[in-house]
Amino acid sequence: MPDTIVTTIPIQSQTPAIQTGVGAAVSRIDGPLKVTGRARYTSDHRFPGMLIGVPVCATVASGAIRGIDTSVAAAMPGVRIVYTHDNIGKFFHINAASGVKTDERRPPLEDNTVRYYGQYVALVVADTFEQATAAAAAVKVDYRRDPHDVSKLLATSDQPKTDTERGNPDQAFASAAAAVRLDETYTTPVETHNPIELHASVALYDGATQSFTLYETSQAIVNHRGVMSQMLGVPPENMRIVTEYLGSGFGGKLWPWGHSLLAAQAARNLRRPIKLVISRDMMFHNVGHRTNTQQRIRLAATSGGKLLSLQQDYLFHVAQEEASVEHCGESTAYLYGTDNMRITGAPVKRHIAPNTSMRGPGAVPGLFATESAMDELAVRLNIDPVQLRLLNEPATDQSIRAPFSSRHLREALLTGAERFGWARRNPQVGSMQQDGEILGWGMAACSWIAKRLGAEASVTLGSDGTARIYSAVQDIGTGTYTVVSQMVAELTGMPMAKIIVAIGDTRLPPGPMSGGSMATASMVPAVAQAARTAMTQVLSLASEHERSPFRGVKTDALAFTQGRVHRRDQSPQSGVPFADILAAAQVSGVDGKGKSGPSSEDPGAKTISIHSYGAHFVEVRWQPDIARLRVSRVVTVIDAGRIINPRTGRNQIEGAVVMGIGMALFEQTHYDPRNGKPVNNNLADYVMVTNADSPEMDVVFLDYPDKALDEIGARGIGEIGIAGIAPAVTAAVYHATGVRVRDLPVDIEDLLQAPYRYRA
Ligand code: MOS
Repeated sequence: MPDTIVTTIPIQSQTPAIQTGVGAAVSRIDGPLKVTGRARYTSDHRFPGMLIGVPVCATVASGAIRGIDTSVAAAMPGVRIVYTHDNIGKFFHINAASGVKTDERRPPLEDNTVRYYGQYVALVVADTFEQATAAAAAVKVDYRRDPHDVSKLLATSDQPKTDTERGNPDQAFASAAAAVRLDETYTTPVETHNPIELHASVALYDGATQSFTLYETSQAIVNHRGVMSQMLGVPPENMRIVTEYLGSGFGGKLWPWGHSLLAAQAARNLRRPIKLVISRDMMFHNVGHRTNTQQRIRLAATSGGKLLSLQQDYLFHVAQEEASVEHCGESTAYLYGTDNMRITGAPVKRHIAPNTSMRGPGAVPGLFATESAMDELAVRLNIDPVQLRLLNEPATDQSIRAPFSSRHLREALLTGAERFGWARRNPQVGSMQQDGEILGWGMAACSWIAKRLGAEASVTLGSDGTARIYSAVQDIGTGTYTVVSQMVAELTGMPMAKIIVAIGDTRLPPGPMSGGSMATASMVPAVAQAARTAMTQVLSLASEHERSPFRGVKTDALAFTQGRVHRRDQSPQSGVPFADILAAAQVSGVDGKGKSGPSSEDPGAKTISIHSYGAHFVEVRWQPDIARLRVSRVVTVIDAGRIINPRTGRNQIEGAVVMGIGMALFEQTHYDPRNGKPVNNNLADYVMVTNADSPEMDVVFLDYPDKALDEIGARGIGEIGIAGIAPAVTAAVYHATGVRVRDLPVDIEDLLQAPYRYRA
């Protein structure tokens, strides 16, 4: 790299000098850097000679570019070049068999076909953002307009794929034993990820070594390196990805998008650093969204409430050439016991930009349908909805015929009911009134996958008394710096103030993506192995080095406790700080390396069902005279294994509950049928939950370690909190108003149908 470019790995140092291992509710160690503005986010990076890229986006949903006139733009002040399909240079496609992933495999500016509104058609590079923006507006594109379809109602002519099947669901549904049958269709709309931090890329290219350094907004820097190296045609060792901090991603930043390729290609072409920051409106069509879903649910139950049959047939829209599968049946297969089940799913093409993962992909829209159906079933059976779940609690995971590793859904339901005061609920619609408002009480259960991904880490114990942990994982705002530090504190007995965390850089040993709520559990075995290897090396030096106070004591008679080396049969205080051993041996530090495979490769992986569970209890308040609805109170009980940090953990669940309320009541991306444009493409028109909409929240962790997944027993908490919130809200809305909303979000128009007799 040019000498002028200096980057540093973030050093975390300002931490409390207290013993702070697993289970401690410590504040984020990166908090002070963030509140003082010293934490560098991607778009904070600036380099000498840096130019600014601003893309031009298509304004038709389907068609072709007949011509692009860049002459006016190219002559504008500060403009260096305008790239189109003709001059951007070559991009490759990924080799999917290599294991790297992107949700938009087609590179930007590849041809003259337009497949969705907003697709990149040109890139302006200029000295300043203002110059580039003005010139981008002056690029004239002549389009041929082809017919397009952005409609919401979905139907497929293809045979849907069967996700899971057992017994004979059709026969059971039709059988005489079925006292109650339910056959309803539920829909969820397109939602757009709106993290505060916009997607951005700052790209550097060194011509001498033909290597890139890309500062990216990525939830998965190792995968990002793989995709970018393949699509730009450089070996992975010539591709460095850095994401020191992320202003959240919610899945939108899991997989690489075209702006990164544009910035990198321009940097290579021009031999200048390029910054490209996506605008808020581009966030609505260039970096993925949660697809809409349409799900038909069929349930049959005995009069006593036992599920006889469960069918879920879901459809979701995808782009013309790209498809991220929305597995709506993700948690359906094992959440309740029933001998007869079928889940099918199919994508339906639309002229809409590629969809992608969004917090709790699959299960979150899936649970809206299945848990709503369970609530409707409870009403038809006249059984309490908590009781209905308890009645159908399975003994084993019937989908894989295996026991559960650690399932405490029953306790979550009962604990939540107790804390919420559910026993005081009068099930009659509209019957609970207070202060001129009608109260609605609803609940839902939830579940989320628990897995580990492969990970590598190294731990260095230094003669300065520090432990440094290195891994190319990333902290997406959720607390990874902190919980990784806590892991090392737990393993070494050292205070967090002595632990330095270096992550977010692909120069480090490859870590897992921050997605699927898997990063924390994935890190545990790699960090544990690395820390133990480093500690063993210290003990070997203590045993063997001539200047060690423990020379001649066998290694296995020594212990490493509270950061000190001592005889195993004596107290830690009898020994010496480990740094004294290193100093005596004149060694600056010892390195331990750790490497672990994914949980899918664990022995016996297929014979155990590992998932997280939870229960939400929601109170809404409905004022019929002014048609005002708000969520006033939520009790959430989460069974996610061992909670490494109850403070960051609670923060995750509270944030997810708030996001789930947004899903239930507000969030929805609207497409203009005339041109396929997302019309509410800004934070004024795309309505999200504000503080005023946020309820009083009570979050409880059951905290049962799940040692089937990792030695700490942590399962992951990023997504479980949003799973099940929307159906709990709509159940509460039904209880207050008598209106069953099956199409999210709940609109005021839906509630204006509320029968007059429920007025307070
Ligand atoms: Mo999450 S959708 O796995 O970032």
